[in-house]
Amino acid sequence: MAERAESLADLVSDFHRKAREGRRSIVPGRIFDSTGQALGGLRRQETDDQRRPYSGCAAEAERTEPPMHDVANPPSLDDLGETLGHLPADRSAETISDNLALISSISQPNRVLNLLDRILGDEVVLGLIASRSYHHVNHFDKIVLIDSDSPAGYRLTLHLWRPPYTADELDDEIIHSHRFSFWSAILAGELQSENFQAGEDGTIFRRYSYVPEKRTKVNFYEFRGEARLRRIDVSVQAAGTSYYLPYEQIHRVLLPHRTMTCTLVLRGPRARNHSDVYNTSYPETDTQSANRTFSRDELAEKLRALKQMVAVRLSSSTALGA
Ligand SMILES: [Fe+2]
Repeated sequence: MAERAESLADLVSDFHRKAREGRRSIVPGRIFDSTGQALGGLRRQETDDQRRPYSGCAAEAERTEPPMHDVANPPSLDDLGETLGHLPADRSAETISDNLALISSISQPNRVLNLLDRILGDEVVLGLIASRSYHHVNHFDKIVLIDSDSPAGYRLTLHLWRPPYTADELDDEIIHSHRFSFWSAILAGELQSENFQAGEDGTIFRRYSYVPEKRTKVNFYEFRGEARLRRIDVSVQAAGTSYYLPYEQIHRVLLPHRTMTCTLVLRGPRARNHSDVYNTSYPETDTQSANRTFSRDELAEKLRALKQMVAVRLSSSTALGA
């Protein structure tokens, strides 16, 4: 265990050092602070021609396929928990960039496959993760791999969108901001999302203050009046890319129609007690909903489905590199 932790520490420190020296293939892209101003001090390595259409408020990492020698020492869940426990709590440009490098590293297909195998092979760990994982009201499975007792701590989760969706689900607006900033890597499928800005013009929505209650697993929505939102951009991100999203950014994920989408999310320290939810369908009163956690078998089935998708991705990238 001590040996594995040491190896992971080396790995993380190596990624951070390379990111700082500009030798890691990180493309920070545009990172915005809470006022919408771009943060300075970050290197931009791609040319205009290489830039993808995406123009959101996220930092983006280049597609990085794993070198095979990384298979030798993949981190366990305990190793990752230890690493998360030492991450800085600030939102400096350096922390944002370093955490992006970290999630890009953890999300390499061979590491994900190894991690999924370890979880599936341990009934106790499987049960523990199932007991804190549930189908989110925004129509994805939230699988909490590593939790923190402290709101100041980091958390590692899988978010799994699995079509088909009903017409009602596809009609849901599910526009929201967050209580936490986060770093996310697309493990499978494609993540399509839209970013919004609140202001004087745009479509009128009902705004709710959303507070999930961890202990009772009940979500409370407090009606806060109407708000106008304007869509500012649409992004499409492929498996193998990573991005950063600050908690204040209002967005929604567009539900996939055909193929599963899965992201690995490094959630930062809690920045505020509530997030905002915008829609036209909830009543103009306070409301609430409850989460049901998964059984061990339900979770195992989801992890196996994910494993299959990631394995296909790994074999196709290996074939391309051969
Ligand atoms: Fe979100």
